[in-house]
Order: sequence, then structure tokens, then C-alpha cells
Amino acid sequence: MSLWKSAFDGLARSKAVAGFVQGNRFAQGLASRFVGGDAAPAAIRKCVELSARGVATSLNYLGEYVESPAAIEENVSQIVTAIRSLGQTALDVHVSIYPTQIGYAHSGELGEAGGLRIAQALAEQPAAGRRKLLMLDMEDFPLVRHTLDLRARLAQSGCPTGITIQAYLHRTEGDLRDLVADGAAAIRLVKGAFAERPERAWTRRSDINREYLRHASYLLSADAKSRGLYPVFATHDAATIRAVIGVAERNRRSRDDYEFEMLYGVRTPLQRQIVAEGRRLRLYVPFGTEWWPYTMHRIGENPANARMVLSALWNSRQ
Ligand code: FDA
Repeated sequence: MSLWKSAFDGLARSKAVAGFVQGNRFAQGLASRFVGGDAAPAAIRKCVELSARGVATSLNYLGEYVESPAAIEENVSQIVTAIRSLGQTALDVHVSIYPTQIGYAHSGELGEAGGLRIAQALAEQPAAGRRKLLMLDMEDFPLVRHTLDLRARLAQSGCPTGITIQAYLHRTEGDLRDLVADGAAAIRLVKGAFAERPERAWTRRSDINREYLRHASYLLSADAKSRGLYPVFATHDAATIRAVIGVAERNRRSRDDYEFEMLYGVRTPLQRQIVAEGRRLRLYVPFGTEWWPYTMHRIGENPANARMVLSALWNSRQ
């Protein structure tokens, strides 16, 4: 890991720094580059704004790895409240959740109960004019089995549920086949964000990129389509995006058969280009008061963001 990235990972983990900056004007300016707002109404306004520009969204309430039942309850309630507010709009929004924010960092039972409450809230919303999908984010390796089981349980309960699958894991080929065979509504393919051991995952960038395209090909296959799968390709890598488009065209898939997803605030010119080409784009819009770790990770992912930090610091002096 580069010195730059590890410095920002350290900052992201520091509770003392988070406590200090989450009320600070300079840091809030930085957060607004990547975060939709500190509560659901602001984030939903951001979704409306993006929708007017032809961009769909994926809302995520910030805060992972929550162990205390009170904090889990707060997360689940915030997500349910956001879903109810979304019910009054006709937006195309996915609701993205981390298993460890809804109970899995405490126990499987609490996690499943949290997932079912969220699914129930989605089911209660009026259907007209919107695609309602719960999208499960995928965390580190020990959570993969739990997350696959949760998706199956939520789908059984009648909630359209998608799942994020990491291309770098060796187990992914089997998981994708099982998900497609089980009629999964949507699969969001990502490269994988966690430092996994070589026995479990490809670790070289070239290997991960190759695996990503191999899995993308399967998700865009006639077999996957015939089982009703909707593939979502979540990446900021322009070369990967071009290669996925090439596979889709060779497989005669229409532009409405799949979509790309990126993080709000990351590679905005590339996002505009995708939309200008008439392709489907969804942006992941996080919201909530726990924005410090998320923002630090985004800045740490790209040293070019150093300029952004310096200019925010400079502006905060004015
Ligand atoms: P890659 O790392 O190949 O880089 C491609 C280019 O994008 C480079 O030029 C790079 O500099 C640029 N880039 C990447 N991040 C940038 C940034 N912050 N600022 C500026 N430029 C940047 N992972 C996971 O394990 N579980 C999950 O549930 C999810 N969920 C998820 C949802 C969505 C919508 C996205 C976009 C990503 C995820 N991820 C994830 C993260 C994913 O696994 C992966 O770590 C990152 O997307 C980085 O890989 P890419 O393919 O985007 O770019």
C-alpha cells in the first residue's frame, strides 16, 4: 500500500480526528464532494438533481462494522426512514446496505432481522414509477457466506434483492453460477476493496482486471439474461468499462440491459461521458453524519486528490 493511501486509511480509522472534524467547516466542504448530505432529505434532493441529469442513484446510509444493538437499531431505523421518504418520489434508486451496519457485526440473527425489516419497508412502498431494489454491499471474506445467505432469505421474502460480488475472489465463479441459477435480480460486479490473502483472491491488478472481464462476460451471457439477471458494473476504470461495452455489443445486449455504477464525486468527467453516450449510469450516494472514514478512503484512493485537500484548507481560512 502506498504511503499516501496508508496515511488516509489511518486518518479514516481515527475516532479522535473524526470527532473533531465532523463538525468542522473545512472538512464538511471536502465531504460534500463525495457525500450526499448528513440526512436522508438532503441525499434525496441530490438524487433528484442527478435524476434530472439522467443519472440513477444508489443510496447508502454511512456507518459499517457496528456492534452495539443501539447503534444497529439507529442504522436500521435511518435506512427505513430513508426508504419511506423515497416512497414519495418517483426516482430510480437502489438502497445499498452493508451487512455489518444492520447487525452482522453483532450476530447473524440480528443481521437477518435488520435485513428483513428493511425489506419489509421497501415492500410497503407504492410500486408505480420506480424500481425498488435492495443492493447488498460485500465486505471482507468472512462475511461473504452471510451476505449470500441474506440475499437468498430476502429474495424468498419477496424483496427484489441484488448483491455485490468481488471479481478478485477465487470463489466468485461458483457464486455467480449459483446466483444466476437461483434467479438473482441483480448482481453488482466490483473488483474488490479488501486486502485478501492469495489463497482467497487474485492480488495482481492485471489478474483482477482479467477476472473482472471474464465474470462480466458471464453476466452478459444469454443464459444470465434468460434467467432475468440485471448486471451492474461498478468500476471507475475506463479501460474496463470499454471492454465491458465491447462484450455487451458482441453479445447483442442493448444499452438498457445493464448499467454502470460509480461513486458520487469520483471521476466525474468519465461519468459525464458515459451519460453523453446514452448509457445507463447509477451513482452511489452515501449520506449520514459518519462521513469522515468514507471521505478519507475516497481521497486516499487517488493522490491527485491532494490538491482538493489543500484547496479546501485554503478556502476554510477565508
Ligand atoms: P481501479 O482501482 O482499477 O482504478 C481505475 C481508475 O480509477 C484509476 O485511474 C484510479 O486512479 C481511478 N480511481 C479509482 N478510485 C478513485 C478515486 N476515489 N478518485 C479518483 N480516481 C479514482 N468493493 C467491495 O469490496 N465491496 C463492495 O460492496 C463495493 N461496492 C462498490 C460500489 C460501487 C458503486 C463502486 C464504484 C465500487 C465499490 N467497491 C466495492 C469498490 C471496488 O471493489 C474497487 O475497490 C474500487 O471501485 C476501485 O476499483 P475500480 O475498478 O473502480 O478502479
